[in-house]
Order: sequence, then C-alpha cells, then structure tokens
Amino acid sequence: MSVLSGRKILLGVTGGIAAYKTAFLVRLFIKAGAQVKVILTPAAKAFVTPLTLSTLSKNEVFSSFTKDDDENGLWNNHVELGLWADLMLVAPATANTLSKMATGNSDNFLLATYLSAKCPVYFAPAMDLDMFKHPSTKENFNTLISFGNVMIPATSGELASGLSGAGRMAEPEDILRFIEDDIAEKLPLKNKKILITAGPTYEAIDPVRFIGNHSSGKMGFELAAEAYAAGAEVILISGPTHLENPNDGIKLIRVQSAQEMYDATLENFDDMDVAIASAAVSDYRPKQAASQKIKKNNENLQLELVRNPDILATLGTKKKHQILVGFALETQNEEENALGKLEQKNLDFIVLNSLNDTGAGFRSETNKIKILYKDGRQKTFGVKSKKEVARDIIEEINLLLHE
Ligand code: PMT
Repeated sequence: MSVLSGRKILLGVTGGIAAYKTAFLVRLFIKAGAQVKVILTPAAKAFVTPLTLSTLSKNEVFSSFTKDDDENGLWNNHVELGLWADLMLVAPATANTLSKMATGNSDNFLLATYLSAKCPVYFAPAMDLDMFKHPSTKENFNTLISFGNVMIPATSGELASGLSGAGRMAEPEDILRFIEDDIAEKLPLKNKKILITAGPTYEAIDPVRFIGNHSSGKMGFELAAEAYAAGAEVILISGPTHLENPNDGIKLIRVQSAQEMYDATLENFDDMDVAIASAAVSDYRPKQAASQKIKKNNENLQLELVRNPDILATLGTKKKHQILVGFALETQNEEENALGKLEQKNLDFIVLNSLNDTGAGFRSETNKIKILYKDGRQKTFGVKSKKEVARDIIEEINLLLHE
C-alpha cells in the first residue's frame, strides 16, 4: 500500500504546457488512495480544464478567490484549503509562479493558498531551457528550498519550444515515486519495531463455551494502523475479533487464549523497540477445559479458575531498551489503580480509560483517555475517535523515542 493512502493532497497547477499531464498525476494519486483537491491558476485553465480535473479528483476545482459566477460574495477559503492539505504539490511550476512563491506574492488563489499552507510543499519546475538556466530562476529554486520546500528535479529532453535541454517537468509516475520515497524517508517511526496486543482472549470451558470479554479489538487495530502509517514495522497480536488486518504490511498474529497471546508476545518482544498492551486479557482461565460439551445435568456448576500469566508484567521484567505502554480499563479509583499498574508492570506510561466516561472503553468508535507517565506527568484528552486516540498515543511514543 502506498504511503499516500489516506493523505490529502492539494495540487496547484500553473500555466505551462505540462499542465496536461496533471490529469494523469491526479489519477495516480487517487489510485494510491489519496484524496486530491486541485487549484488552477487562471493561466493553467488554457491548458487543462477544471472539468477534467474535478472529474478525476472527484472534488471541486478552485481557480479564483470567489465561487464562479457568484453574485452573493461567497469566497473560496484559501486558509481552510491550506490547512486541509497533508501535502501541497505545485506542478507544473512555471518560472513566473516560482518567482512569486519565492517573494511572497499572492496575486492569485494558488499563491495565497501556498502562503497559508502549513504542510510540506513540493514543486516540479517546468519551463524552457534558457528560463531554467537563468540565474534568477536558480536563485528562486534556492530560496524555496531554503524555506523547506522540496524540489522535484526537472528532466532533460524535448521541450515545447522545439528546443532540447533541461526544464521538462518530471513524468507523473516519477513525481508520484519521488513524493512517496520522500515521505517514507521522513516518517517519524522509520526503522522502529512496535508490538501491539489487541482484542479479548477466550478461555475455553469446553469445546463450545469460553470466558471472554467485550473487547472488539478496535483500539489495538487503530494503534497498529497508526504505528504503521508513521513508518514502524508492526506486529499485531490479536485475540478473537472480526476486524481485518488494517494493512497487509502489518504482521497480524491471531490467537485465542491468554496463554497463546503470552507465547506469541514473548517470542517477539526482544527484537522490539516498543510494546503496547491494549488487549483485554482474561486474568483467569478454567483449570481444565472439558474435552466434550458440558451437559446441564446438575442445578449448579462450579468452575475452578486458575490465574493466567500477566503478559505485560512479564515484559516489564524483561525490558531493556524498550518503551513499554499499558492500558488500564477501570470502573473505580481509576487513577490510583492505573498508577499501581504503571509501577507494578514497569511501564513508561499507562493509558487510562474509564467505563464511567461516556464514549470510552469497549466496542465504541470513540475513546477518552488520560496518559499517566512514570515521572508523574499527566495528559488528559477529550472524547475522540479511536483512530485519533491511537494517533495521540503514537505521537507520545514518538516523543519518548526522540527524547
Ligand atoms: O477493543 P476495544 O473494544 O476497542 O476496547 C479497547 C479496550 C477498552 C479493551 C482498551 O482500550 C483497554 O483498556 N485495554 C486494556 C483492558 C484491560 O484489560 O486492562 P487491565 O487493567 O485489566 O490490564 C492492565 C494492562 O495489563 C493492560 O495493558 C493489559 O493488556 C495488560 N494485561 C492484563 C492482564 C494480563 N494477564 N496480561 C496483560 O498483559
């Protein structure tokens, strides 16, 4: 899966003949799983139509500060667009637009959005060879690079003027690959290995019954997805759940019981940089699982339960360089209990979620967490989707890894 999957790309198209290639570029971004919005400068409209790009991007195309033919004063919000984007690409970037980007000129909608964007900006120059060679153009390249913008090198070859030389916009496939490689290279958890436990465990009573709990696995699967998106190598060890692997790049090990989860976790832990235990592991299991279905012959039935191994506490005794993160699902004395687990299990931080909070805990699409650090720091978060919660947790881990 492409690193662009799920990312929001703002494509700024300026008035050069290579603008016709942006139709292919938009298709490639969409195929890679990205969301795309396009801005055309007025000059670009002579080379490629808004209809072509809106059809391919499945989004409205912007080209001016106000809605077309609008008499009610409705405006296109360049600030909102700039904030929407995960990355902005100006392609083709003409000498004219590049010089305006370098000097902060904002006399069209694309330039105003460029100035507002906080995301990484890439630009793919396209112009005739003498314009490309001109010292002022080179100075503009250097200025933009010094701003942190990333230049996608132009290539040499036949130009629209009939001349041959440097200044051709990189081909759409090469632009795609360039951006993918650049993002992959800069991912914060690149070269880090993260193990995540998720879901419930099922402790067999007999061949048809078990002791389990309400965990759906969502929290853990979102953590795996976010860790993977941040560039980590991820092993996800999950108890029974209907959820599918969020990404084929994640190694998913499916287990049933706490003992199986323990074995799979311990087998992989030494190699890890981080372990996150989000699974709701059964603390007890039936001493002996019956080999045949238990018949209801008696009024009462007694099950003898024995303790399961504590996976996270075991990791706490084995940890060397690893960052260890646990969860605490509490119903009373939340903070006190969570702090007890933080210490007993030798964790770097614990994520407290309480069943007393609306929108927190099992199954729901949302969670509400408080992070308690071993050094006493605390961070409280509001109710968020489990995806956003996972992102917050991965961000905390990222900060710890780079401390
Ligand atoms: O799966 P969802 O429906 O999305 O729900 C998410 C969740 C509520 C299950 C999750 O956010 C959560 O709170 N998981 C931990 C639940 C829990 O069992 O907490 P605990 O307080 O019992 O355990 C403390 C920590 O020790 C946990 O990190 C747990 O994974 C770990 N543990 C516990 C027992 C055991 N035998 N081995 C363990 O590793």
